[in-house]
Amino acid sequence: MPLTTGISQLTFRQDYFGDPAAFAALVALLHETFGIDVSVQDRFGGPDPTSMPFAYFDENGICAANLSVFSMPMMVDGGLVKAAGFQSGAVRPQWRGWGLYRDLMRRAFSWCDAQGFELGLLLTDKPAIYQPYGFKILPQHQFSGPAPVAAKPIGASRSVLLDNAGDVALVKRLLRERTPVSSIFAVGVHAEMFLLNGCFDPSIRLSYLDQPESVVAWKSGEADCFRLLDVVGKTIPPLSVILAALDQRPSRVEVCLPPDRLDWQGMPEPFRSHTSLMVRGDAADRLRQPVMLSPMAEF
Ligand SMILES: CC(C)(COP(=O)(O)OP(=O)(O)OC[C@H]1O[C@@H](n2cnc3c(N)ncnc32)[C@H](O)[C@@H]1OP(=O)(O)O)[C@@H](O)C(=O)NCCC(=O)NCCS
Repeated sequence: MPLTTGISQLTFRQDYFGDPAAFAALVALLHETFGIDVSVQDRFGGPDPTSMPFAYFDENGICAANLSVFSMPMMVDGGLVKAAGFQSGAVRPQWRGWGLYRDLMRRAFSWCDAQGFELGLLLTDKPAIYQPYGFKILPQHQFSGPAPVAAKPIGASRSVLLDNAGDVALVKRLLRERTPVSSIFAVGVHAEMFLLNGCFDPSIRLSYLDQPESVVAWKSGEADCFRLLDVVGKTIPPLSVILAALDQRPSRVEVCLPPDRLDWQGMPEPFRSHTSLMVRGDAADRLRQPVMLSPMAEF
């Protein structure tokens, strides 16, 4: 039903990604609001097919406001949980303060509850907006410590480039087949954010290891430090095997995910970021150990 905001008449639409003009209008909204170009997803097969967008459009097809939900199964405390991520929340400046976002949040959260999602996740620099809807901040911790004792290299590694179609196909296959990188808190199966984050941040390095077959996302940190962002494969190699395959001999390691499957232990330390991870739902209560959402899963 059309909604009059006092500025113009807006029409609510849900699940509109099948309409290329409407999707392009969302791309423009996100570019103007966050300075990101989500149309790079075209290279990887288009938007996440599990996405359920909720939005208002004006009479010229401009996307005035949007909030999208997508399915991202998560490993939480040893069990796979039906989880939803909330992203692309934005309202154009001329339509702010009219309650549009409140309306979209109510619709999106009710839709998720009806679908039986056990966990809701979002990242925000404005946590107060979401607290009335049952979201709580989940403090994040990265894990740091000395590098493990060096292992002998057991295989070869090479760089993976996301502008190479063969490499994209390889990464997508491994993302489909992956074992969650942590049994405590990690993405189950989800490809789109890993690929997008790999494109958005040019300092992220992706390397293919042939034994065990996996793709490692990492960065060279400051002061002889290796930062591990994610590992994608059926088998998660120990950290010592990863470092040997990449020919890295750092003195310190920072791991941006719970390291329980890496045969290495680090000290949890608070992860400082301008955004907070917020969670909602019963499954969130099971998280009692320090956790961090891999930066490759950020949305
Ligand atoms: C944040 C944003 C989506 C709000 O849109 P909006 O349509 O003006 O919001 P609404 O008028 O529907 O307000 C909804 C609620 O959020 C609160 N709110 C709005 N902006 C807020 C802010 N910057 N900080 C804290 N609370 C805010 C309102 O007070 C209102 O609370 P109420 O329901 O208790 O009255 C919009 O300002 C925006 O697009 N900002 C830039 C992008 C952004 O920050 N997106 C959210 C990232 S997670």
